[in-house]
Amino acid sequence: MVKMILYGLAEPLKPNQFPMRPIQMVDTKTQYQKIKAEVDKAVIEVMESSAFINGPAVKEFTASLSSYLNVKHTIPCANGTDALQIAMMALGLQPGDEVITPSFTYIATTEVIALLQLTPVFVEVDPTTFCMDPAVLEKAIGPKTKAIVPVHLYGHAAPMEEIMAIAKKHHLYVIEDNAQAIGCDYTSSDGAAKKTGSIGHIGTTSFYPSKNLGGFGDGGAIFTNDDELAAKMRMIANHGQSKQYYHDVVGCNSRLDSLQAAVLNIKLRHLDEYNIARRTVADFYDKAFANTSKITTPYRAAYSNHVFHQYTILLEGVDRNGLKEFLASHSIPAMIYYPVAGHQQKMFEQFNVATQSMPVTDWLTERVISLPIHTEMEEEQLNFITNKVLEYLNK
Ligand SMILES: Cc1ncc(COP(=O)(O)O)c(C=O)c1O
Repeated sequence: MVKMILYGLAEPLKPNQFPMRPIQMVDTKTQYQKIKAEVDKAVIEVMESSAFINGPAVKEFTASLSSYLNVKHTIPCANGTDALQIAMMALGLQPGDEVITPSFTYIATTEVIALLQLTPVFVEVDPTTFCMDPAVLEKAIGPKTKAIVPVHLYGHAAPMEEIMAIAKKHHLYVIEDNAQAIGCDYTSSDGAAKKTGSIGHIGTTSFYPSKNLGGFGDGGAIFTNDDELAAKMRMIANHGQSKQYYHDVVGCNSRLDSLQAAVLNIKLRHLDEYNIARRTVADFYDKAFANTSKITTPYRAAYSNHVFHQYTILLEGVDRNGLKEFLASHSIPAMIYYPVAGHQQKMFEQFNVATQSMPVTDWLTERVISLPIHTEMEEEQLNFITNKVLEYLNK
């Protein structure tokens, strides 16, 4: 009956005659249906309490998240971009200081560097992991370098052990952009496991609805084990305020709503099972594409357990737009993350980076395509997608 309403059918169908659920890049609606009772209760509690700003739900969620990530401090904020901005503001960097970051990432990572009048220094990524290449990183360090921002892109951890060793050697800060990899485990060569976002001096994340831990609107958080940095970041996120109406540093207004925190606190309890569900989808795709040389499936480094925020493949000798259009004609969405790399963005013209030689980034930018992946995918949908992809490849 529910399906009948969903699809607007005139006649009730027998169970095995239900049409396949429409394929989406993410399906937050179905995910919500499964935890509706818990979420609705938590949201109603916030509404009835009227504690909309910094209420108990925010405290409860940040405490749960600190415990999940095993970090001393979680500072909630309005979104993942603010999280990066507040983190960089707390480091006391001066205009013109250099921050090293991949060009192959979402714009938020690099945008805040320029916004704070710092200089982004773009480095190549490893073509297998899509994450910052430590060998290239070390060569990019100069006298003005102050910080490194690795990105755990698509849910795959950057090689943090090497990055932290380089940062230590050169006395640099590391801010992990963990917007796409919350819940990912990173195992160092000594066998010690940590969550991504808890390894650098600061970690940041986004709770944008499509993220692995997504709210019902915007949200973000910052993580650190450093008491001083934590105090500073809390202050910056709250108008630079040390006590009410006393503003010691220039800050901003960046808060996580209590309503979002209430939703996120419920979803955090499901995060591990959500990441397992994403990995199961990735396993299905990997298996289906194992015998075609035209597709390189995502690499999974032994040091981490990929949490597949995206399932991004590399195409070889395939017309990418043609494939995307063919899939769209069968109601299968696919996305290019990201069609223009940072060093090619008009926004960064002032830094003269467009002519910078970034063959790996350019190569990836031309070949990547992301297929639908989320916690609610059904085998029928996966069979349909993989069959259509292979049908196009074999044309
Ligand atoms: C890698 C990365 N960094 C930062 C952000 C920014 O997060 P938000 O959209 O919450 O500002 C995102 C969000 O898409 C992201 O993917």
